[in-house]
Amino acid sequence: MPVYQIFSIESHTKVYVWNISESFNELFRSVVLKDVSLARLEKMKAEGHQKGFLAVRKLLEVAGYDDFDLYYDDFGKPNLKDGKHISISHSNDFSVIAVSDCNLGIDLEILKDKTLKLAPRYMDVSHLENLSKEEALEKATVIWGIKESIFKIKNIEGISFKNHIFEKKFELSVGKCSAELRFENQVEQFNIQHQKVDSYILVIAFRAN
Ligand SMILES: CC(C)(COP(=O)(O)OP(=O)(O)OC[C@H]1O[C@@H](n2cnc3c(N)ncnc32)[C@H](O)[C@@H]1OP(=O)(O)O)[C@@H](O)C(=O)NCCC(=O)NCCS
Repeated sequence: MPVYQIFSIESHTKVYVWNISESFNELFRSVVLKDVSLARLEKMKAEGHQKGFLAVRKLLEVAGYDDFDLYYDDFGKPNLKDGKHISISHSNDFSVIAVSDCNLGIDLEILKDKTLKLAPRYMDVSHLENLSKEEALEKATVIWGIKESIFKIKNIEGISFKNHIFEKKFELSVGKCSAELRFENQVEQFNIQHQKVDSYILVIAFRAN
């Protein structure tokens, strides 16, 4: 099943998830790419990365767009020509896009021990106290996703995950939480939504009003 899930967040955002079961050739033959995308695809070393990139183009089709509607700024942030916001993520066998009326960030991350091992480098590990190893891994992955997603909204060089983005304490089971960016004498609040998708964690961040 290529389209794994489509869901809406209120009336402003639609999220599209693709489970990659196709070969590179199947995906490649089924999309039309502009020259600059073709050149990017050719430069990618890993076939997994190439398939993730092509699956994003399939999701664009599902959302009513194509590769020609998508362009990137100098830092790699994707944009849509019609002025809607888009955020993109891929991890192993899944790709995801979110199309929204609001600036947003999305991150999909496979559950892997390394994320927990590296936790002290990017988060307040007191937020993992009193959890089983499995819960700690899920929570650390959510927190990693929070930081990636907020970074994708802001798209500013110099933001450090550990020193500038702070998640508030939260219960995994609630599926929602909030976080704060403290950067260059400004404080900004973000609302976060997270859920498990297969053996991955999906995180979506919006600026709080
Ligand atoms: C840009 C970044 C957020 C991408 O995240 P990732 O986990 O490597 O990869 P993902 O699959 O989740 O996301 C990749 C997509 O993010 C989007 N993206 C890339 N740069 C972006 C930016 N500056 N702003 C918003 N979105 C961006 C792109 O759409 C990209 O996919 P595509 O090029 O195939 O379209 C990440 O690599 C990064 O640079 N983070 C900030 C640096 C940092 O502080 N790192 C860790 C410190 S401990």
